[in-house]
Amino acid sequence: MSENGKEKFGSHFAVIMALAGSAIGLGNIWRFPYIAGEMGGGIFVLVYILCTLFFSIPLFVTEMAIGRSSGKSAANAMYHLSGKKKFWKYAGLVMVLCPLVICSYYSVVGGWAADFLVKACQGAFGNRSSQEVSEMFGVLISSDIRPLAFHLLFMGLTAFVVMGGIQSGIERFSKYTVPVLFLTIVFILVYSLSLPGASQGVRYLLDFDIHNLTPKMISYAMGQSFYSLSLGMGSVITYGSYVRKKENMLQSSCHVAVNDLFFALLAAFVIMPAVFAAGLQPGAGPGLIFQTIPYIFSEMSAHLPIISAVVAVLFFFTILMAALSSAISLMEVGAAYLVETTHWSRRRISLILFLCLGFLGSLCSLSFGPLSQYKIMDMNFFSILDWFSSNILLIAASMLSTVFAGWIMKKKDFYDELSSGGMYSLNAKVAPVIYYTIRYVAPVIIFVVLVSNFI
Ligand code: TRP
Repeated sequence: MSENGKEKFGSHFAVIMALAGSAIGLGNIWRFPYIAGEMGGGIFVLVYILCTLFFSIPLFVTEMAIGRSSGKSAANAMYHLSGKKKFWKYAGLVMVLCPLVICSYYSVVGGWAADFLVKACQGAFGNRSSQEVSEMFGVLISSDIRPLAFHLLFMGLTAFVVMGGIQSGIERFSKYTVPVLFLTIVFILVYSLSLPGASQGVRYLLDFDIHNLTPKMISYAMGQSFYSLSLGMGSVITYGSYVRKKENMLQSSCHVAVNDLFFALLAAFVIMPAVFAAGLQPGAGPGLIFQTIPYIFSEMSAHLPIISAVVAVLFFFTILMAALSSAISLMEVGAAYLVETTHWSRRRISLILFLCLGFLGSLCSLSFGPLSQYKIMDMNFFSILDWFSSNILLIAASMLSTVFAGWIMKKKDFYDELSSGGMYSLNAKVAPVIYYTIRYVAPVIIFVVLVSNFI
């Protein structure tokens, strides 16, 4: 389907699924549980929920409005709407560069998931002791060729879907994967909660220890909420430009945000009980899910060998799909921009992106093995990229988009977008609340969060 000669999403369902596909990813399954574990459990989860409801949803609608109203990719949207002011051109470029950086290390984690899928298919979690299973991850990341090969495979798949374009690529892909994701995670949740010692994990997630409420924790919660909803980095702006004019954006944004939040909570309630049941530390870092989940399957295999083998395959397949649909949205930001500015074919651009990001990601992958002695501020290359892109660039770019929507974009255009030109009267009533949050409250809070990252 196209509007003004530009390809658009085909239906309301497709919009939600594509945006949820971008939002629901490793951020929910891999990043949220381990950061919640490092930051002290329940109170972090509570702050995360509040941030999502009060800041991320307004920001999400805002970014969609910027995208749809300009009809341009992230880098050009603000430039175009500002009446071609140079500053917004550079601001837009930050929004293109950063998702590409995220994409490069994201693909490394996607590669780990692919490797675990292969292991699951070989029944590798079944006939080993729980300890051996939990150690598999360390063995994988410290080797050289294997994680590298899986990373390149993952990046190749991502580039392949991006090459296919909007409807035949992105839309078709997300429509099937998102519903399957929910089904498998609920199934595993039930099992995880029934493990011996699981209640300790549940308690950890519901424990509101006020001592953990620090500025650093709040800044991580906000960063994670933006990360999880793909905010601040042009994914939402780019997808917003593929949304038809009559789509109710406020409604779709709320749907996406609630789905994403719900999924993150489900993932946390799958992982934490297993962490305690396996006797691991909740603050174990990026490897958390790759150490706990195989443990669940190895325990399960003692009573239910066949079911455990099947669910293991299903689970890693699910993670892989969730990761792919998010990686696609990350790469798509760069692809849309490059196609728009160079007029080269999607095919050629996807290939170039594959080569560049593949290379950057390879350095991340090797930074756990052969390159592990090279550290900056006590972080390896992988962690540096993650920290810098998610805690600094992402927050800075979110601030730019709030300032843009609140101060540069015409108020009337903003209201018009939210209510689809007055078509949705409820949205028209809510629009001022969102507008003033974005104009006055959000930039101040985001600024404080950004600064607190340096203290
Ligand atoms: N939101 C995705 C996740 O939770 C990752 C992601 C996709 C992203 N696009 C983004 C993160 C843009 C930041 C910016 O896994």
